[in-house]
Amino acid sequence: MKSIFRSDLFEGRVAVVSGGATGIGLSIAEELASLGANVVLASRKRERLVPAARGLAEEYGVQVDGVVCNIRKRDDVESLFDHTLERFGKVDFLVNNGGGQFPAPAESIKEKGWNAVIDTNLNGTWHMCQTAANKYMLQHGGKIVTVVADVERGFPGMVHTGAARSAVINMAKTLAVEWASRKVLVNCVAPGIILSTGMHNYPPGIAENSIQRVPLKRLGSCEEVAGAVLYLLSPVGDYVTGETIKVDGGSSLWGESWPIADVDTEGMVEIPPWPEQRWPQYALKE
Ligand SMILES: NC(=O)c1ccc[n+]([C@@H]2O[C@H](COP(=O)([O-])OP(=O)(O)OC[C@H]3O[C@@H](n4cnc5c(N)ncnc54)[C@H](OP(=O)(O)O)[C@@H]3O)[C@@H](O)[C@H]2O)c1
Repeated sequence: MKSIFRSDLFEGRVAVVSGGATGIGLSIAEELASLGANVVLASRKRERLVPAARGLAEEYGVQVDGVVCNIRKRDDVESLFDHTLERFGKVDFLVNNGGGQFPAPAESIKEKGWNAVIDTNLNGTWHMCQTAANKYMLQHGGKIVTVVADVERGFPGMVHTGAARSAVINMAKTLAVEWASRKVLVNCVAPGIILSTGMHNYPPGIAENSIQRVPLKRLGSCEEVAGAVLYLLSPVGDYVTGETIKVDGGSSLWGESWPIADVDTEGMVEIPPWPEQRWPQYALKE
């Protein structure tokens, strides 16, 4: 999908994109690069970072670095921003796209799994936001966009990420207010079900089976999510902060995501009696 923005819109700008070597993050990084931005991709797997960074740099003639960084680790995050500032002297945009989770009914999630998902999606995002702010943005302004998930109606089947993403949405509102006077804008984009590399981590068919519960009756693309992120980063997004934009084909408004078993009515509580039925001896006589 070709960008709707002017091709030199982000010339000379610098963006850090976590999880920027795959899926939605790669689409975001690609659109930024195609509009002239220098980009730092940050994630754990060097074997994905190297080809993505070299490929984007060659294709769009901008500078693209791949930095190995586990967003759960504060030291890694500090080094990421130190590297970015040494190399480019600034960081205009932070896109928190790195994240992940696994489907499981709430009662079966082990402590380790719960902690891993919270650590990545909530603590990792926090490390990135606070470090970017303290090392650069609070002095110079900037924009932060976090890719969350469509958690408005809860997130049955993935309670851990639902809790983490809701926290991040609230965090964006708070930071939007606290950092407004420093010209740091903080927003989120909430994708519905998107055909991306992330789908390789789910059981086969899960995406296709979801189509029926999306009002637009199709799945989304990485480029459609990237477009919403780019809108927020662009100058037309300059009056938007603390907001979450859904890119979900309407799926947060309609459709069942979690079948609920029929209720057994046996032993159901009874309607309580009126007081005059409970204590007839005190009932008022006409
Ligand atoms: N696809 C969807 O339908 C959908 C829906 C809602 C939300 N999302 C969210 O959108 C984002 C992008 O997902 P995607 O679908 O494009 O899947 P993806 O290709 O699996 O992207 C996830 C990215 O996050 C990086 N990452 C994971 N843990 C990390 C960590 N601890 N530190 C640094 N980077 C980390 C991964 O890179 P490494 O493995 O190299 O670290 C990967 O590049 C994720 O946050 C995802 O949860 C996706």
